[in-house]
Amino acid sequence: MCGGKRVACLFLQIFLQPTRLALQKTGLCAEQRFQISIRPLALVRQRICVKEHTKFSGSIPAAYDRYLGPILFQPYAEDLAARVPVKKTSAVLELACGTGILTRVLRTYLPSKVKLIATDLNEPMFRQAAAKFGKGEKVKWLEADACDLPFDDRKFDAVVCQFGIMFVADKALAAREAYRVLKRDGLFLFSVWDAMKHNKLGELAHRTIASYFEKDPPTFYQVPFSYHNRAEIRRVLKQAGFREIKTEVIAKIGQAKRAEDVARGLVEGNPVAVTIAKRDPSLLPVITDAVTAAITRRFGKQNIHAPMRAIVVRARV
Ligand SMILES: C[S@@+](CC[C@H](N)C(=O)[O-])C[C@H]1O[C@@H](n2cnc3c(N)ncnc32)[C@H](O)[C@@H]1O
Repeated sequence: MCGGKRVACLFLQIFLQPTRLALQKTGLCAEQRFQISIRPLALVRQRICVKEHTKFSGSIPAAYDRYLGPILFQPYAEDLAARVPVKKTSAVLELACGTGILTRVLRTYLPSKVKLIATDLNEPMFRQAAAKFGKGEKVKWLEADACDLPFDDRKFDAVVCQFGIMFVADKALAAREAYRVLKRDGLFLFSVWDAMKHNKLGELAHRTIASYFEKDPPTFYQVPFSYHNRAEIRRVLKQAGFREIKTEVIAKIGQAKRAEDVARGLVEGNPVAVTIAKRDPSLLPVITDAVTAAITRRFGKQNIHAPMRAIVVRARV
């Protein structure tokens, strides 16, 4: 059970008893009655997991920025920023900005008069970003859910998001929000990871972590690699009103000096660390060592070169 919420679910089962009794009066078979009666539980469980998987706080932002940033996120940030049209752009909104890796590249790339607003669900993530910017460099930081943007309609020339949309539970709502705040002809530009099998570091981490849990292994790593069906992405954007939707697969090589640094990032630099620690905190260093060993077997102990694959999506209002 995700997040050790067994007790809460027991209480819920008691609350669901009246539903079970009511269903007994219907002509449904026992299996159908069971499935219907536990549906609210499944939804509660899903919500708890989504919350846990999006909680980037505590020591996570620092580990994310230090160990994962350079290998996984910096190369794609440079690629994405270069796709923002500079001409005619006067206001850019970044969603799920995290520790400001893309924000840093955008601020360097865009003329200083372009307004840049960087938002994220977790304030501790962008607090980590402040030290990367000089006094004169203007960025407005704001805590905001991509599904509920605190802006008026038609405010921005571009909305950008690097590897954040996968964490958003309601993708259709996030697409509608991006559409709403974009000006006419505005650009929605975002990246998502391709399937886990194309991103070997994530796959190694996921498999190694799972091997430590006989029952109910942590599911965090399914989230970042969950939204890569290009037809589905296009369908969601089209339904939100976007046109000229284009997707492009971008393969890169992530580079790092030491396997152990990458392993620290993969275990301690995202919410899987919380899931592991909740079950047994003493497992964190053990699993980090095991991930280091797995990376070493695959890519060597030093000068890691790991293949990565992302999908870059652009759509116009
Ligand atoms: C993998 S990080 C990507 C961060 C950053 N864009 C980068 O490239 O380094 C995912 C980010 O999504 C944020 N996030 C998760 N759910 C969100 C939501 N509903 N709205 C806005 N941000 C969200 C998390 O707080 C986290 O900072």
